[in-house]
Amino acid sequence: MPNSSNPAERHALARTPLHIIRELETGLLADRAHTSPKYFYDTVGSVLFEAICVLPEYYPTRTEAEIFSTHMADMARVIGSGGCLIDLGAGNCAKAARLFPVLHPDQYVPIDISVQHLQDAVTRLQQRFPHIEMTALGLDLAHDWVLPTEVRKDKRLFFYPGSSIGNFEPHQALAFLRHLRAACDRDGGILIGVDLIKDKPLLDAAYADSLGITAAFNLNLLRHINQLLQSDFDVSQWQHEAYFNSVKSRVEMHLCAKENLRVNWPDGYRNFIQGEHIHTENSYKYSIDSFSALLAEAGFSNACHWTDRQGWFAVMYAKAA
Ligand code: TRP
Repeated sequence: MPNSSNPAERHALARTPLHIIRELETGLLADRAHTSPKYFYDTVGSVLFEAICVLPEYYPTRTEAEIFSTHMADMARVIGSGGCLIDLGAGNCAKAARLFPVLHPDQYVPIDISVQHLQDAVTRLQQRFPHIEMTALGLDLAHDWVLPTEVRKDKRLFFYPGSSIGNFEPHQALAFLRHLRAACDRDGGILIGVDLIKDKPLLDAAYADSLGITAAFNLNLLRHINQLLQSDFDVSQWQHEAYFNSVKSRVEMHLCAKENLRVNWPDGYRNFIQGEHIHTENSYKYSIDSFSALLAEAGFSNACHWTDRQGWFAVMYAKAA
């Protein structure tokens, strides 16, 4: 570990912005230690997440894809064509690209935290769909964000697949949906993926698969934190835990200390006793009714939904008017 008594010098070595260091420290020192899920996604984390999405136990990705394949024509009939498709957390843009041939957007606006990552995907997509104007934006959706003026106002459709809405606390989810509502005129709308409440064993398995990929994904957070904070977490002292908390209607992900241990970083340390947890993420599950109510509270109306035969996942559409 680089060793310097000068805090500014140490931070320069870590090249981590001070507010990130502070945020990590605050979370680690809290009575119930916690970390922000955005730190899951370093290079290894992003690859592990892609692997999670193809695991047999992780039903959401393929179930959502199946809902889109089965009901695409009906979705297009309800939503109509043209306008501006705004893809929230676009990644490789693959999910939105499947909508282009039926929704025929005039403009496509993929948004992700790293615009660099988006740019390659957009360059490829632009060749396949030369008539669609494409404007890639790098924004952190967890913070206040505004759309620049290049984003057309006409018929905005916010697209938010993958049940990422479940990773917000419900009051944050409401604030986020209100923000989207405020960003569209009355001709706008939202098309969103929502993971539904189901039997506990299915939910538990989806977040604690037999190959241990989700465990690796969760544990990798400690490696990433070591880089950001110059801390000395020893991954082998920690264990992945994930379970459905039916009272709070959420899957909780934790890292659990296997033994008494101490974690050090340049400006501090924390002792963990055996069995103590770091809470790393929640994934809230909704019913069609509870999510429709949330959409209505956010100012959207006429919610309709498409689901799979088992009723595990829903794609919901609601209008701004
Ligand atoms: N939003 C999805 C979900 O909650 C994907 C996801 C986010 C996820 N973090 C995860 C999946 C951690 C598995 C583990 O299911």
